[in-house]
Amino acid sequence: MTLKLSYQLLPLLFLLSALCVTAIYPKTPRFGLVSKFSTNDYGVQLPPEFVTYYYTQTLDHFNYKPESYATFQQRYIVNSKYWGGANSSSPIFVYTGDEGDITLVADFAGAIVELASRFKGLLVYIEHRYYGESNPFGSQNEAFSNASTLGFFSSTQALADFAQVIIDLKGNLSAENCPVIAVGGSYGGMLASWFRLKYPHIAYGAFASSAPILYFDNISPQDGYSVIVTKDFRDTSESCYNTIRQSWGEIDKVAAQPNGLWNLSRIFSTCQPLNSSEDLKDYLVLMYMVSAQYDNPPYNPVEKVCSAIDGAMNETDILSRVAAGLNVSAGEPCHQVFDLKLYKSSGWDWQTCTEMVMPIGNGANDTMFEALPFDLNNFTRNCEGVFGVTPRPHWITTEFGGQDIKSVLGNFASNIIFSNGLRDPYSAGGVLQNISDSVVAVYTEEGAHCLDLATPTATDPDWLVSQREAEVKIIEGWLATRSSLIT
Ligand SMILES: *[C@@H]1O[C@H](CO)[C@@H](O)[C@H](O)[C@H]1NC(C)=O
Ligand SMILES: *[C@@H]1O[C@H](CO)[C@@H](O)[C@H](O)[C@H]1NC(C)=O
Ligand SMILES: *[C@@H]1O[C@H](CO)[C@@H](O)[C@H](O)[C@H]1NC(C)=O
Ligand SMILES: *[C@@H]1O[C@H](CO)[C@@H](O)[C@H](O)[C@H]1NC(C)=O
Ligand SMILES: *[C@@H]1O[C@H](CO)[C@@H](O)[C@H](O)[C@H]1NC(C)=O
Ligand SMILES: *[C@@H]1O[C@H](CO)[C@@H](O)[C@H](O)[C@H]1NC(C)=O
Ligand SMILES: *[C@@H]1O[C@H](CO)[C@@H](O)[C@H](O)[C@H]1NC(C)=O
Ligand SMILES: *[C@@H]1O[C@H](CO)[C@@H](O)[C@H](O)[C@H]1NC(C)=O
Ligand SMILES: *[C@@H]1O[C@H](CO)[C@@H](O)[C@H](O)[C@H]1NC(C)=O
Ligand SMILES: *[C@@H]1O[C@H](CO)[C@@H](O)[C@H](O)[C@H]1NC(C)=O
Repeated sequence: MTLKLSYQLLPLLFLLSALCVTAIYPKTPRFGLVSKFSTNDYGVQLPPEFVTYYYTQTLDHFNYKPESYATFQQRYIVNSKYWGGANSSSPIFVYTGDEGDITLVADFAGAIVELASRFKGLLVYIEHRYYGESNPFGSQNEAFSNASTLGFFSSTQALADFAQVIIDLKGNLSAENCPVIAVGGSYGGMLASWFRLKYPHIAYGAFASSAPILYFDNISPQDGYSVIVTKDFRDTSESCYNTIRQSWGEIDKVAAQPNGLWNLSRIFSTCQPLNSSEDLKDYLVLMYMVSAQYDNPPYNPVEKVCSAIDGAMNETDILSRVAAGLNVSAGEPCHQVFDLKLYKSSGWDWQTCTEMVMPIGNGANDTMFEALPFDLNNFTRNCEGVFGVTPRPHWITTEFGGQDIKSVLGNFASNIIFSNGLRDPYSAGGVLQNISDSVVAVYTEEGAHCLDLATPTATDPDWLVSQREAEVKIIEGWLATRSSLIT
């Protein structure tokens, strides 16, 4: 990937968002969007020390019907370059794969390679079922044809997959004595923390980066996500924030005039004529949300968008200023505005339509956006239309908890790091308090989604370096405790 050379933020952001994301928009989860920007299936070429394997995985871990015993090939990647070997009791860092191709994670999450080198660890990246090459039904079309084939697609099945691969692999390596530390970002971070809670006999600890495990039911405020997006923009530039805030009414005003949509299409340089001003607004909202979610150095997209808006030639024309902001984020000759809806071929859309129901919305005056409360009835209708399933909005908290997290985890859990950057809108649903000596929150005021997992560079700011150092120290403490218990 040539991400580092790109000046064009939006494609860049969508690519990044394929690595470490979760849904970002209340009307729709975002994953279908990524494919709009991809020219290939974006697998990446990894260095030779990353070796790919396939494990014959059980289709259904929780059922004894004959068809449940079907199997599929699940991909996982191993990097043993730093491993101290089974006899050394060195740790095994297992990346609990998320909603994408696992090669992307292995490429992106360079910070865990540093962890491996530091602790002589083995690195194992397990792909999540139904993503990348780990398709239970051969082809994508077959797997996504209907709920009969998609029905085996859940976080609980995914965790059981991880458990099975890890036990089998440890057996093959005679590494039973090596402690496993689950690692993941975003949805993968939720999985890492849940894996530690559900499979404590397999995972000795978990490092969950930007994992919004509290963005379910009503644990976190609905508008938390958009409030942080707004804060990111407002902290960057008050006038930028004001321009964006005023732009929605301006768009409506122009749209209502004769030739209004045609004029909007021209002002915003859309590739195709707009069919509705809602599509344009959704696209803009998405651009702001993605910019905030990935508002990480060295790209700092919010600052780039705001400099374009504040620096636009015509200071009085709100719409051309906003259009200049859009231009800097997309950089193409024209903008391919698309409607935001659920996609039948999107794995993440299926997940949000079944169990990963994150009620993200906002009210009338709490953000720089127009009111858009999360509407479960509407969401349910859309899901039923696209997938023929009814979401279970309370299942995640039933299965994994989340309510009253401090006393629940304080009473029984240990060895979990919840890390966040507070500029990440998803930190609104993150764990930001220390729950016990070993269930800890490590966050930075700066930094956004999954930044601490990214490959360290020489230009990393001090706060990021310190955050990673704190994480290493905590893991070091867990491992030291374990050795002292064993010997
Ligand atoms: C690991 O320990 C076992 C049992 O002590 C021994 O047989 C084996 O050779 C050791 N392996 C290595 C690579 O040292
Ligand atoms: C679902 O898809 C499978 C595989 O394509 C097919 O065999 C089955 O008939 C479909 N079921 C329904 C209810 O459409
Ligand atoms: C363990 O070894 C068996 C036998 O060679 C193999 O079939 C299986 O895939 C291996 N498991 C893992 C997780 O690599
Ligand atoms: C829309 O475009 C037409 C033709 O260029 C122009 O006459 C009209 O004033 C424009 N309307 C707005 C609201 O810009
Ligand atoms: C508007 O609708 C036409 C016809 O359905 C379609 O080709 C075009 O892409 C749509 N425009 C946008 C911006 O979505
Ligand atoms: C700036 O935009 C305003 C409002 O659209 C318009 O009246 C004015 O002529 C523009 N000024 C320049 C220099 O283009
Ligand atoms: C946006 O970019 C397009 C294509 O380069 C250009 O024609 C248009 O004038 C730009 N719009 C603004 C507001 O800068
Ligand atoms: C939002 O703010 C506007 C302007 O200050 C006010 O008229 C309106 O009543 C407010 N709406 C809500 C729901 O608070
Ligand atoms: C319901 O969802 C559809 C499709 O996303 C959207 O167009 C519509 O505005 C939504 N209605 C409400 C009341 O939110
Ligand atoms: C929680 O504890 C860790 C380890 O002691 C520390 O690095 C971190 O700053 C603490 N977090 C908070 C929110 O106090």
